[in-house]
Amino acid sequence: MTTPKLFSTAAAFAVLFSALFAANHVFDFASLSTKDPKSLSDHDHDHHDFGHFEFLPIVGALGPESYAFDSLGDGPYTGVSDGRIIKWQEDQRRWIDFAVTSPNRSSCEGSHDHHLTEHICGRPLGLSFHKTSGDLYIADAYMGLLVVGAEGGLATRVVTQAQGVPFAFPNGLDINDENGLVYFTDSSSRYQRRNYLSVILSGDTTGRLMSYDPQSKQVDVLLENLSFPNGVALSQNGDFLLIAETTSCRIMRYWLRTPKAGTFEVFSQLPGFPDNIKGSPRGGFWVAIHSERKKVFELILSYPSIAKAILQLPFDVMKAYTSLGKWRGRGLMIRLSEEGVLLDVLEDKSGVKWKAVSEVEERDGNLWIGSIHKPYAGKITLNDTN
Ligand SMILES: *[C@@H]1O[C@H](CO)[C@@H](O)[C@H](O)[C@H]1NC(C)=O
Ligand SMILES: *[C@@H]1O[C@H](CO)[C@@H](O)[C@H](O)[C@H]1NC(C)=O
Repeated sequence: MTTPKLFSTAAAFAVLFSALFAANHVFDFASLSTKDPKSLSDHDHDHHDFGHFEFLPIVGALGPESYAFDSLGDGPYTGVSDGRIIKWQEDQRRWIDFAVTSPNRSSCEGSHDHHLTEHICGRPLGLSFHKTSGDLYIADAYMGLLVVGAEGGLATRVVTQAQGVPFAFPNGLDINDENGLVYFTDSSSRYQRRNYLSVILSGDTTGRLMSYDPQSKQVDVLLENLSFPNGVALSQNGDFLLIAETTSCRIMRYWLRTPKAGTFEVFSQLPGFPDNIKGSPRGGFWVAIHSERKKVFELILSYPSIAKAILQLPFDVMKAYTSLGKWRGRGLMIRLSEEGVLLDVLEDKSGVKWKAVSEVEERDGNLWIGSIHKPYAGKITLNDTN
């Protein structure tokens, strides 16, 4: 009885470690439709090809996952690993504290492994301001959907469950400024953020896309049974939403208006695991790709028994995976048109600066680059925005 189990555990080890140590390989972009993509890499091109890089260090925490600008255009604001939402103060060239999502901050700040306290301190992920009211809506991975006024401080929880099922991993968020509707994802009803790899490895399909109406306080489930729904972004005219489905490496389109309203379809298939999606002021959407989809990952995903065995291994898979992160994929950021055509590609082949990219937010000719691991925010000043 134990033999098959041992065998599958050994097989799982083998698969896991070949996944961790697999040599870097370059994406095959031939599989995507390409219209004059701009490629960027540390080795092949000078940085000035695309723009000027800056790193804006964050004190005491890391992982600026998502960015938002307020109704005056100030910021960006971003949520970090100790549960704070901080604001970039351009005139002082530093981050200042803006808001928190948990009332209990007693063991949150200071240097320690923030993963251990994030269920107490909060972990703000998706952020967006409602331009008319000036309110900031926050998808916090542990605290649910929250809102805080333009003055900041302690955010108020507005939703923590839908249809009786509590959120386990609220993640992406966008707002329709015209009607105030807040769209957000719960990546899983089963696994929390700190176990995000389990969502992928177990093939979990308990993710949901929801809307929240601040007027009626009503929360509606728009899509369920999703495979790690992550970032969400509204199209320019509000006709549809794009949702990044991380496990399946694709972008889904959910129609809000037009005769297709209420239906969804595959918008784009990607070469890696997508994180957040943000509308670009030049049109289309920036998609941040956390890491490439390795062949081995595909193998694991197609054999649920191996994934299950990995999850039962007597060591911390997440930790091993994270600490061996330098063997993993590089940062990749792409801009897709509203028709799904590839417009821009930003790729860091060295993987030094932009590993585990979580978001690209374009504003006033700058790209703000998020990551769940880096102790700084990345800013690229574009040379030429056409
Ligand atoms: C605040 O969190 C600490 C652990 O970090 C816990 O010991 C304490 O009971 C919490 N306080 C409240 C009021 O929840
Ligand atoms: C989602 O999955 C559950 C359980 O498998 C099923 O009962 C439900 O009908 C599914 N919902 C949709 C919209 O497919």
